[in-house]
Amino acid sequence: MASAPKKHPTFVTRRLRVRPFRASDAKALHLLYGDAENLRYWGTDPSPSAQRTRKMMSWHLGYRPRNYVLWAVEEIKSRRLVGMINYHRRELREKRVDVGWLILPEMQGKGYMTEAGQALLRHLIDDLGVHKVEALIREENKASAALARRLGFRLEGGPIRDRWLVGGKWHNVMLYGLIAGEERVSR
Ligand SMILES: CC(C)(COP(=O)(O)OP(=O)(O)OC[C@H]1O[C@@H](n2cnc3c(N)ncnc32)[C@H](O)[C@@H]1OP(=O)(O)O)[C@@H](O)C(=O)NCCC(=O)NCCS
Repeated sequence: MASAPKKHPTFVTRRLRVRPFRASDAKALHLLYGDAENLRYWGTDPSPSAQRTRKMMSWHLGYRPRNYVLWAVEEIKSRRLVGMINYHRRELREKRVDVGWLILPEMQGKGYMTEAGQALLRHLIDDLGVHKVEALIREENKASAALARRLGFRLEGGPIRDRWLVGGKWHNVMLYGLIAGEERVSR
């Protein structure tokens, strides 16, 4: 398996360490990617096996050019990996990225992704010079839409028809967008 790139930073927030993934995270990652119920509004199918999750992680870590980067979200007090946050589809010329987020069901509703999302937005805008951050979210995914709004995203469009193919079915998504300067840094 490829090793985690050194150049991606770690963000330490009040309760979280948002850090690059490493090979030893494979098992914890499968808890996230293997949970079909938690992934019911996700853009790809749940992972059917730990082996498939490991392969996917290897692909993520080795992907070049690095327009897809994922971070592990670790709870500081338990040192447990509880979620992941990523950017993907980075468009260098247009200074734009998409973001995605996922956290274990028992860790939801504690403000963790708000915290991780704020840290990622700061990195994207302040360090990488990103101008526009977008998130594609299924209309039914109220928790994700609420999180996006809490971070400062606005609903910009949709339903965008047949954007995701999941479980053999096409799904529409809504487009949320945030322009640098619109991010909410605290609640
Ligand atoms: C979408 C998702 C990542 C949100 O993560 P989360 O960590 O539960 O989000 P948060 O805890 O930051 O915010 C959720 C709630 O916590 C509450 N909260 C509690 N304490 C908080 C705190 N200290 N700070 C911020 N919010 C807090 C918020 O008020 C919010 O409630 P509300 O939505 O009723 O207003 C999570 O639901 C998830 O993993 N879903 C499954 C995967 C998925 O669909 N991902 C998105 C695909 S587009």
